[in-house]
This record gives sequence, C-alpha cells and structure tokens, in this order.
Amino acid sequence: MPTFDIVTIFPAMIEAPLAAGILGRAIDRGVLEVRVRDLRDFTTDRHRVVDDVPYGGGPGMVLKPEPIFRALDAIEADRGTPLTVVMTTPQGRRFTQPEAQALSGRSHVVLLCGRYEGFDDRVRSRVTDELSIGDYVLTGGELPALVILDAVARFVPGVVGDEQSVAEDSFSRGLLDFPQFTRPAAITGDRSLGSEVLSVPDVLVSGNHAEIRRWRKREALRRTLERRPELLDGAALDEEEREMLRELREAAKHEIEN
Ligand code: ADE
Repeated sequence: MPTFDIVTIFPAMIEAPLAAGILGRAIDRGVLEVRVRDLRDFTTDRHRVVDDVPYGGGPGMVLKPEPIFRALDAIEADRGTPLTVVMTTPQGRRFTQPEAQALSGRSHVVLLCGRYEGFDDRVRSRVTDELSIGDYVLTGGELPALVILDAVARFVPGVVGDEQSVAEDSFSRGLLDFPQFTRPAAITGDRSLGSEVLSVPDVLVSGNHAEIRRWRKREALRRTLERRPELLDGAALDEEEREMLRELREAAKHEIEN
C-alpha cells in the first residue's frame, strides 16, 4: 500500500477534509498514511516566497522550482525511492478508475498541488505523472489532489470496509451502477405530480436472488447504454451481459422505429 505526501501552499484545504469521513477514519486507524507538506517550509528566504513572475512577461505568477525540489528531496529522504510524483494540472492525462487502481500499487505517491499560472516547467523533470481530473479549470490543485487521493485510497486494503464492493464496483468493470433502493417499498412522491406512488421494482422485494442478480446486470447495462455508451467499448462483459446488451440494443432500435 502506498504512502501519500501532499505538497501544497494551503495545508488547511487538505487537512480539513482528511479529518472526516472514510479517509479520516482510515488515517486514525493507521491503514492509510497521508502527510501534508507546506511548500513554504521548503523556502529559504525570510518571506517564504513560493512564486515569481513568468519569464517573457504576462499575467499571473509561476510556482518556483527550488522549493518543490527541496520538498521532493525531503520526502525522498523520509520515504525512500521510488517516488511516484503526480502533478495536478489541466494539461495532464485524464484521471480515471484504471489510473486510480494503478497508483494504488505504487510504494510512495506524492501529489504536487499547482497554483497561480502553474509550475515552472523544469519541475516536470522530477514528475512521473501529470494528471487532470476533468476538462475544467480550478483555482488550484488541492481539490484534484483530494479527488485522486480518495479514489486511490479506496483500493488500499482496509480503507473501505468491504473489499469486495471495491472490486465489484461496476465502474471498476467499466459500467455505471445499477439503481439502488431501500425501505419503505412504496412512498408517495411529489404532490405536484398528483401524489403518485413511487414503488421499488417487484423483483428486488421478491427474494429471488438469481432474478435480482440478472435485473441488476441488465439495469447497469441499460444505464450505461443510455448515458455513457462509449464506456461499453472498454467494458469487461461476460457472455450473459453480451446477450443482454444485444437485447437492449435491439429494443432501443425498435423504439426508434416505432
Ligand atoms: N488544476 C486546475 N484545474 C485542474 C484540473 N481540472 N485537474 C487537475 N489539476 C487542476
């Protein structure tokens, strides 16, 4: 299981979320090891300056390379090598569930949080992975680092109570989740819709586990086909699922024709 170091100029943005929830509990129990490093602790000047104006001019500020190099040296001295050094940036490769699983197999993962106009490009000489959490621009890399940590930590044994739920996570197999319900089996919905009764599908209260399993498989496929059909190209489907998918596609075709 990897150790994690998060390098940031806003430690509180990382520490507060890590004090609560499933990750907070995992840290308290010692199954997850995360250390937050304040980049300013690796400056050498009185004002603890971490950024400077860009060469060539232009707006904004650029994170200086030396404090980051010193932070990486310190982490290497503490943790040993090899360090996986992840830079969060909108220019990075898209972070996905397979990327999360791959990172969970590394020994030490460092997350470098960007700020301002980004990093001095020479920092990339010490970076192993540049990752983006999506096609939008955030004010900094702290939220992306937390997103990456959360998704990777789910694969660390003991973090999520039920290991099987992580492995069987439909997204791990390249599909969206099937719909879930809990008690009561019937409730009255929105009054503006004439107080219609909202019921749980009969099959789920039937107690027929073989039928429930098939229903869940089909609904996961139906949702994926309707909402994210491109995921089906990379999904690991068994024979039963491939047959269900053929039926769902056939049904959708008839719906369009009629
Ligand atoms: N920094 C700013 N925006 C980002 C994004 N979308 N992903 C990763 N790092 C970022």
